[in-house]
Amino acid sequence: MQPDQLNDLIHSRRSIFPAIFTEQPIPREVIQQLVENANWAPNHRRTEPWRFQIFRGKARTRLADFLADAYMQTVSEASFSEIKREKTRKNVLRSDTVLVIILQRDPEEKVPEWEEIAAVAAAVQNLWLTVTAYGLGGYWSTPGTLPALTDWLKLPQGQRCIGLFYLGNYDLPPASGQRGPIEEKVLWIEE
Ligand SMILES: Cc1cc2nc3c(=O)[nH]c(=O)nc-3n(C[C@H](O)[C@H](O)[C@H](O)COP(=O)(O)O)c2cc1C
Repeated sequence: MQPDQLNDLIHSRRSIFPAIFTEQPIPREVIQQLVENANWAPNHRRTEPWRFQIFRGKARTRLADFLADAYMQTVSEASFSEIKREKTRKNVLRSDTVLVIILQRDPEEKVPEWEEIAAVAAAVQNLWLTVTAYGLGGYWSTPGTLPALTDWLKLPQGQRCIGLFYLGNYDLPPASGQRGPIEEKVLWIEE
């Protein structure tokens, strides 16, 4: 691979939302490759703290119903929106696959938790870039229902959900990205 190809891949990765997903299915082997690449993320003291639960096919309905109910239970009566509840369900059902992003805390706590969250985020970035390379779309969502999802999934001790990755095919041109200039975020120290 040429550096320019990697530069283009990184710059073209976008958050693509379920509203524009098509129904074109994604082969299971592609999902397998996404998580395989996630597994090669850097991590301190080899804790490999990322876990994924992959909801596909009929299983999506259970997840969709759960998230819609959980939204209803977590949100205050005043800010409840039926449109948002329905969107929560539809986001899952419009996705070919939803990956639940899980942090596995090292039982020996060999490293601080933030380092493990950083490693999971690096794993998700690997996955997300692979999604882009396959011409697929997706995004990392962090709804307020993640603690309820952790309970619902009956995750073992030390595991908790830190997001959902909605994944699908799409055929619209993605929105262009927006970033402030890197010059404002970098200090060169050379002498
Ligand atoms: C840790 C994390 C959590 C995020 N949670 C949400 C979310 O809950 N809802 C959402 O619309 N986007 C979420 N995003 C996606 C960001 O909104 C998106 O990355 C940002 O707007 C930049 O757009 P881009 O990904 O197309 O470059 C999340 C991204 C990260 C890294």
